[in-house]
Amino acid sequence: MDHNDHVALLRAGVVGAGPLWADFGSGWGAFTLALADLLGPGGMIYSLDRKRDELQRQARELRRRFPHVAVHYLIADYREPLDLPAFDGIVMANTLHYLTAAELQATLPLVHGYLRPGGRLVVVEYDVEEGTFWLPYPLSWRRWQSVAPAAGFSTPRLLATRPSGRNRGFYAALCERPPA
Ligand SMILES: C[S@@+](CC[C@H](N)C(=O)[O-])C[C@H]1O[C@@H](n2cnc3c(N)ncnc32)[C@H](O)[C@@H]1O
Repeated sequence: MDHNDHVALLRAGVVGAGPLWADFGSGWGAFTLALADLLGPGGMIYSLDRKRDELQRQARELRRRFPHVAVHYLIADYREPLDLPAFDGIVMANTLHYLTAAELQATLPLVHGYLRPGGRLVVVEYDVEEGTFWLPYPLSWRRWQSVAPAAGFSTPRLLATRPSGRNRGFYAALCERPPA
């Protein structure tokens, strides 16, 4: 996948939501860059990962390619409660598959709590059912459709898919914190 694929996966979930977004588990920033592209000047992104070197790498790239988008970099573990503003949207791309079922169940309410009422959660994941070393706890599209509502989100809507060499590919899905 390249930058255009990342933008295409997020586009329908991001456009029209508001300017304040977060990317949790942002890594080297593939989807932070896509968010910056979609939000444009006036956008503000909190980019969060537990790996400092990944954030440093993405900060260089963000500054070079999207200097007019404000980005806050946070070295943090999103399984812990964090002091954050109420976001219009949060992206979690290729990161929830590291959480056990119990961790997922404990973390999703935190994520829910960081969204303003009506705020959006865009999840990008591999659509696979069987775990591997690299993908220990896969969050298939089928599984996400039952896990998200159980955590208080609206029923997820499939936004886009992209093929991947080894499996059924990636999906992007949107759900919301229901309006108050
Ligand atoms: C496979 S990378 C995906 C990076 C990026 N979202 C992407 O799609 O290109 C997974 C990232 O999630 C981060 N991560 C995993 N668990 C995390 C946690 N509990 N808190 C913060 N970051 C986490 C890892 O450090 C890693 O950078």
